[in-house]
Amino acid sequence: MTETVKLTYQGKTYEFPVLEGACGEKAVDISTLRNTTGLITLDPGFMSTGSCQSQITYLDGEKGILLYRGYPIEQVAEKSSFLETSYLLIYGELPTQEQLDEFKYHVTHHSMVHESIKNLYDGFPNNPHPMAVCSAVVGSLATFYQNELDVRNEREVEITIHRLMAKLPTIAAYSYKKSIGQPFQYPDNTLSYSANFLKMMFCVPCEPYEIDEDAAKVLDVLLILHADHEQNCSTSTVRLVGSSMCNLFASVSSAIYALWGPLHGGANQAVIEMLQIIHEDGRDVKKYVQKAKDHNDSFRLMGFGHRVYKNFDPRSRIIKKLAHKVLDKKPNREPLLEIALELEEIAINDAYFIEKKLYPNVDFYSGLIYKALNIPENMFPVMFAMGRLPGWIAQWKELQEDKQFKIGRPRQVYMGATNRDYVPMGKRQG
Ligand code: SDX
Repeated sequence: MTETVKLTYQGKTYEFPVLEGACGEKAVDISTLRNTTGLITLDPGFMSTGSCQSQITYLDGEKGILLYRGYPIEQVAEKSSFLETSYLLIYGELPTQEQLDEFKYHVTHHSMVHESIKNLYDGFPNNPHPMAVCSAVVGSLATFYQNELDVRNEREVEITIHRLMAKLPTIAAYSYKKSIGQPFQYPDNTLSYSANFLKMMFCVPCEPYEIDEDAAKVLDVLLILHADHEQNCSTSTVRLVGSSMCNLFASVSSAIYALWGPLHGGANQAVIEMLQIIHEDGRDVKKYVQKAKDHNDSFRLMGFGHRVYKNFDPRSRIIKKLAHKVLDKKPNREPLLEIALELEEIAINDAYFIEKKLYPNVDFYSGLIYKALNIPENMFPVMFAMGRLPGWIAQWKELQEDKQFKIGRPRQVYMGATNRDYVPMGKRQG
């Protein structure tokens, strides 16, 4: 017996079915609301609105649970690799060895970009923000493969997935090399995904480059932890753009721009900048916690708070341990880590943060690790984008294959001027 919700409006009662999710969460299906009642709903920021049914990632914000295709993030981060996790998210199941080898082969052998893409980098001013570069260059891939963009052609979608997974690290590393005026470093197909990225970032032609396998492993775990997160801002962007049957390159390019915002994936860069301000201002952590609580002060604790998690973000727990593992090995203590730990300790015991359920999120500690890997701050959101790529792909693919596929077109409540006649210039009041 389907549970229902009753709505009484202007003396009539309407019933709407309640949908139950795989983990017991409930949703009222209002898809017939306007046709039956003439009403629409209004929900700025979609605080109470679900956009789709999905089988990819499950979050329980109250309990701090994150599952990738049912597998707990703690197990995936400990036992899997980024490419295996990408396969799981995109195709729905953990791959057999043969499936994983084939996926790795395709991703490895599409890692070079067309040589003329280098001319795009020459067109940017010096030191452009790499998120703007990555989004522009990813979008430009649609011009290099414009005869293979049919979103309903399985083979064309498949090769586009391989091209994106393979080329984003190359595009990202090239954007870093461009910003420091060093020659681009071609991919090395003998290396793992993460080791290849680090080599493209830091290798120079005039001396041998030694692979740091520990650094590659840490980066691989960070990419896993960022791989998907249900209907966040940038994923909702990739779905909305994809809902016009727009190709995957353009949809991902849009998602990279959405991720760049400081309230979203740009927060990892903003966290480090915040920690540096606190460090330079005499490390008075309590002063900044007070500023974050003061509504008249625009200062926010970047890396704190989350729309869904009203408990610890499970990813931030793993990243915090990883930060200790990486930074405790360093000969000198990282002062920004000390400040971050003190900030967390004060905030999570402060009545304001407890009442508003503000905990460290995925962005609070990740920047400290990227910094320890010598990755510059303006590349931090790019690292997030590289991690989130398989999630964007998986969500876009699920949308295209959805039997209820429809173009996304929200309604609105109009609050502007009502009908009025045009006023000639001579009769207008200033
Ligand atoms: C990511 O959605 C996802 O899943 C995103 C993500 C992913 O994997 O895709 O998890 C990645 O984007 C993580 C979030 C990174 N952003 C930041 O760290 C920026 C700082 N945090 C916030 O600005 C904020 O917490 C958001 C944007 C993350 C969530 O914003 P909401 O859900 O719209 O909540 P809100 O801004 O309305 O805040 C609720 C209250 C407000 O106070 P009141 O108006 O109720 O009095 O909490 C306060 C806010 O002022 N608040 C903060 C705060 N975050 C919220 N106060 C101080 N410092 C903060 N960081």
